[in-house]
Amino acid sequence: MTAPLVEMRDMVKSFGGIKAVDHVSIDLYPGEVVGVLGHNGAGKSVLMKMLSGALPRDGGEIYINGEKAEIDNPRDARNYKIETIYQYLALADNLDAASNLFLGRELISQTGFVDDALMEAETRKILARLNPNFRRFHTPVSGLSGGQRQSVAIARAVYFNAKILIMDEPTAALGVQETQMVAELIEQLKSEGIGILLIDHDIHQVKMLCDRANVMKNGQLVGTVKVDEVSEDDMLGMIIAGKCPPNAIPGPGALQNA
Ligand SMILES: Nc1ncnc2c1ncn2[C@@H]1O[C@H](COP(=O)(O)OP(=O)(O)O)[C@@H](O)[C@H]1O
Ligand SMILES: [Mg+2]
Repeated sequence: MTAPLVEMRDMVKSFGGIKAVDHVSIDLYPGEVVGVLGHNGAGKSVLMKMLSGALPRDGGEIYINGEKAEIDNPRDARNYKIETIYQYLALADNLDAASNLFLGRELISQTGFVDDALMEAETRKILARLNPNFRRFHTPVSGLSGGQRQSVAIARAVYFNAKILIMDEPTAALGVQETQMVAELIEQLKSEGIGILLIDHDIHQVKMLCDRANVMKNGQLVGTVKVDEVSEDDMLGMIIAGKCPPNAIPGPGALQNA
């Protein structure tokens, strides 16, 4: 057995008296899409922010490829090739695709200037791979569809060789067709061996896109399932009642004596 790409062990985070994440352990293998499900406030985003270095953790350990990782800030996370894509597409509206792709990480020519031509060429290359229909390279991203914006955000992560992609509700703001486009992108990244942690409240989508899913409730892990082995109702029962079906691996948050 190879070591997991990511293993979060016993992660803890409190805000005042609220245990936002309460001793949660989850893992992710290369080329795997692992869902994180749960009601609003369950602790999904806080758990992911501890992995991306956006929030300091109170307790727990993170292992990357079997080795203990020191992730204390977003820069550390990037060094481990962890990238995050948020629901509210964190792009600069007035800039075009290339400028967004390289924002804060601009390519510099040998003469010491920002190399716009090279950045555009690189942007064309990566978008040709991710979204061959993308044509609007000189449009501010505010003028793009939600799906096109999301492909720019994903290109940004992939260009910098993300091995671990955190997607926090990537389709929440998208229509049906755009959601389909993001689903196709996820399939493609998976086939390239990238591991994806997918936060999503759409059980149907999780069943389609994910290999395994973790359910959180009140900061605790209810359990982990292989999505092919459970029904949508099973997952709903975990989310709502904390009730694990027989083939789930129960966590500390599982309803006892179910
Ligand atoms: N920066 C913060 N400061 C204080 N409380 C927070 C902060 N971020 C999240 N919380 C609280 O932590 C809990 C888990 O939040 P979150 O992880 O965002 O939930 P979700 O599962 O909806 O993503 C909630 O009670 C939320 O109000
Ligand atoms: Mg959230």
